[in-house]
Amino acid sequence: MASKTNLRKKLLASVMLVSLGFGTTLGNTPSDASAQKTPSYQNPGLDVEVRVADLLSRMTLEEKIGQMVQPERFSVTPEDIQHYGIGSVLSGGGSVPDENTPESWADMVDDFQQGALRTRLGIPIIYGVDAVHGHNNVQGATIFPHNIGLGAANDRDLMKRIGEATAEEVRATGISYTFAPTLAAPQNIRWGRTYEGYSEKPQIVSKLGPAIVEGLQGDPKKRDFLKGNHITSTIKHFVGDGLTEGGKDQGNVTEYTEEELKKHIKPYKDAIKAGARSVMITYSSINGLKTHGDYHMITEVLKGELGFTGFVISDYNGPQQIVPGDFRESIKRSINAGVDLFMIPNDWKRFLSTTKELVENGEVSTNRIDDAVTRILRVKFENGLFEEPFADRDLVAEGVGNADHRDIAREAVRKSQVLLKNNNNILPLDKNSSDLVVVGKKADNIGYQSGGWTISWQGSPQKDLTEGTTILEGIQEVAGTGSEITYSEDGSNISGHDAAIVVVGEEPYAEGQGDREDLHLSQEDIDLLNEVKASGTPMIVLLLSGRPMLVTDEIADWDAFVASWLPGTEGAGIADVLFGDYEFQGKLSYTWPKNMEQVNNHVKNDPLFRLGYGLKTKVGNGNQ
Ligand code: BGC
Ligand code: BGC
Repeated sequence: MASKTNLRKKLLASVMLVSLGFGTTLGNTPSDASAQKTPSYQNPGLDVEVRVADLLSRMTLEEKIGQMVQPERFSVTPEDIQHYGIGSVLSGGGSVPDENTPESWADMVDDFQQGALRTRLGIPIIYGVDAVHGHNNVQGATIFPHNIGLGAANDRDLMKRIGEATAEEVRATGISYTFAPTLAAPQNIRWGRTYEGYSEKPQIVSKLGPAIVEGLQGDPKKRDFLKGNHITSTIKHFVGDGLTEGGKDQGNVTEYTEEELKKHIKPYKDAIKAGARSVMITYSSINGLKTHGDYHMITEVLKGELGFTGFVISDYNGPQQIVPGDFRESIKRSINAGVDLFMIPNDWKRFLSTTKELVENGEVSTNRIDDAVTRILRVKFENGLFEEPFADRDLVAEGVGNADHRDIAREAVRKSQVLLKNNNNILPLDKNSSDLVVVGKKADNIGYQSGGWTISWQGSPQKDLTEGTTILEGIQEVAGTGSEITYSEDGSNISGHDAAIVVVGEEPYAEGQGDREDLHLSQEDIDLLNEVKASGTPMIVLLLSGRPMLVTDEIADWDAFVASWLPGTEGAGIADVLFGDYEFQGKLSYTWPKNMEQVNNHVKNDPLFRLGYGLKTKVGNGNQ
């Protein structure tokens, strides 16, 4: 019954679109005289620009508009791709095939690709996914620390290797395009996406962003740029997403002059120089103007001043926010502002018919359409999609979550740990003769240590969310056989040990749901800490969080304090520094405030810990 209704709906929709010229033939085809011999655009020996121009000259208006839209996988079939000549598909956060394995990802993407290759011109789709800390939607993938931790590690070479490993895992699922990295330099840590930013300091973002772009995409001067095991990256969200009033997600930027904004544009400039081929527009506004409709920012600054020649992608249903409730006007303004590829998860058919009408009415010029399509095709050619449209099945078998990648992630974890307090040199712990109790449910839970954008969009506090090593397991692994490790999930029975390692922190969250008015520890965490304190056991506190939290009232009780951020699946990296196998080297890439007043007023002087702060164990500088 239900499927009949669906079929009927589908038929109706296609009848409507046929009457708009979006039929199976995709409009009137230009002369097909050249169809006999291989067209230039299919010749990999020719220059990309020659291939783009050749292909563009063969395309109907409908085919061009089809290249400009990106539906979500849940609302499109391989038949739709073929029928409407769709150019791109995405997986949103947590949008995964029925069986979440590399094989079924590759099968799904290849199926969509088959649809695309059956079109008249055989233009492949480019499939996009949020691989923002590793290929995080995929079960069993290596999950790297969220960017706030990588900012504390502040290591270009490491970033490059993380980019390479992530690209390989993404390729291993048949995908060649990620919506990462975020280049925001968040100024208000109330923002729920703070952890996606490397640092509050644009200079640090400028150093690390281009490095991961190079890892993901390869060297623009080499033949394997974007090809082989490399993928296309997206720098996002252009621009000012970390500058909104009150740190509000999708909010309004009002407190910055154009001169100050330039500092936040600089990381984009540097990443574009490093080869970044796609830029995502921010949901936020600058002085009330939604950036998705901002001609100055997109066309004059990004494509003009910064010389960006790749494609500009909208955010998820972002364009429709320009004039809420008026789809046509929103799409018109957004295309005219310079957006090239439209991430329209559901309403993509409406995008096709609306855009066609806008062009026919002269409200959007064919030049603008040609510019958008040229940019998209350029990256598709560079991405090697015409030559290698399908998943590399050898990689599918072994690319995801392999030991080499997990080693890089563990290195990233240990380099990202920031030691903020170490009274009486309680750290490093003696590997071989310690009697330690590890306390708290967050100590043994992959979901907590991975945070948002892990398996699902918002993440979830599940112990076995995906394959990995919990903090507790890491401690058990690294401690020598002469040591005793006890686990107390709820804080009971902790007396009589040399020290307690207490793990507290935030619940997982992502965009929209992570904005906070108050950054104190939760009552649950405070109760747990109080229980340990009452036992009189020396306390080493590890904080799992996507931003600095207010610990001013509690820190005096702690002997050591480590900002662990959201380390991801390789929890053993924490034990590596706790036991002194490696020196702590993380430094704060955000100011650590004392109170909400400092947060709300962006006060950076006289904080609890200044930006750049971080102790070493051997130096053992005690008090904070
Ligand atoms: C987010 C983007 C993300 C996109 C696709 C949006 O809501 O703002 O960062 O790339 O969804 O999941
Ligand atoms: C998707 C995310 C997307 C968000 C936008 C969610 O349903 O899974 O990828 O960013 O919607 O609102």
